Amino acid sequence: MRPVLLLCFILPGFLCTQQACSRGACYPPVGDLLIGRTQHLRASSTCGLTRPETYCTQYGEWQMKCCKCDSRLPHNYNSHRVENVASSSGPVRWWQSQKDVNPVSLQLDLDRRFQLQDIMMDFKGPMPAGMLIERSSDFGKTWHVYQYLAADCRSAFPRVRQGQPQSWQDPRCQSLPQRPHAHQDGGRVQLNVMDLASGIPATQSQKIQELGGITNLRVNFTRLAPVPQRGHYPPSAYYAVSQLRLRGSCFCHGHADRCAPEPGAPTGPSTAVQVHDACVCQHNTAGSNCERCAPFYNNRPWRPADDQDPHECQSMTEWGSSPSGLRDLSWDTERMESLLFKFSLNCAPAI
Ligand SMILES: *[C@@H]1O[C@H](CO)[C@@H](O)[C@H](O)[C@H]1NC(C)=O
Repeated sequence: MRPVLLLCFILPGFLCTQQACSRGACYPPVGDLLIGRTQHLRASSTCGLTRPETYCTQYGEWQMKCCKCDSRLPHNYNSHRVENVASSSGPVRWWQSQKDVNPVSLQLDLDRRFQLQDIMMDFKGPMPAGMLIERSSDFGKTWHVYQYLAADCRSAFPRVRQGQPQSWQDPRCQSLPQRPHAHQDGGRVQLNVMDLASGIPATQSQKIQELGGITNLRVNFTRLAPVPQRGHYPPSAYYAVSQLRLRGSCFCHGHADRCAPEPGAPTGPSTAVQVHDACVCQHNTAGSNCERCAPFYNNRPWRPADDQDPHECQSMTEWGSSPSGLRDLSWDTERMESLLFKFSLNCAPAI
């Protein structure tokens, strides 16, 4: 064992990642999920897609400003297509719905499962008076609301409670901050998926497992902001989002700390910066989501990793047939040595 130990001290960076995963569940770093995936976004209503439309907003205290929305060509300066919500399109571009259309939804349909950490949405102009954020983790078969948000929860969602969720499927309504000039300034909505579970007694890995997985995400705007009625011609009512940021990673059940492109995936202009699709599996697991045991590691059933236990898949011979110690969490010498032995096998090709 001694040479292996030495080796492990010489290669701390390499081993560091292995160690994070060896103690229990490990997770890849998060990135902006929309980068390179705007083609999976759609909106149920967008202004100016078939012909230019004019909309008017309040300007200063007494004036109105009227602008054109022409989304027939994606790169028009006044095009307000949905892909403009990606951070890569910059702060001066935004998505906008048609006037007086309600409800409106924005939806992201991914082609695989990802782990969502948080959502940040910046509005251009008025903040909606009612909205909800929901997700599916089975490609749209079932949907679950993460959170309802409203200026006045009791009137917008009378059947939804407020406060902290007490179980996995217990969506609550959160009040949207009321700001004095909200009809002009826009505003921001933020949702951290883990914060939703802060009132639920469960481990971090259980929370990620239960709430973090998404294949689809939908934002329903259900109530337009009230427009101030001034003079004969009221301002237009619409929804507009300048930025939607979804931070997350590939979904690996706690069995990986890195995502990589799917083998043979085409490379595009954003390949270098985007969150990759597939997990680089540890714990003797395999599959794009580490959702099964690697071949020849089927000595016990696959399980997601826990905070304190990687639940690694085991080969028929690796741990011997001693019944004691198989599920033992304590780091006894025998287990330590077996792990080091495994590292030595893993380390070998990298030297
Ligand atoms: C959100 O909008 C979609 C499309 O209009 C609808 O099918 C869905 O039921 C809505 N979700 C909720 C929770 O009301």
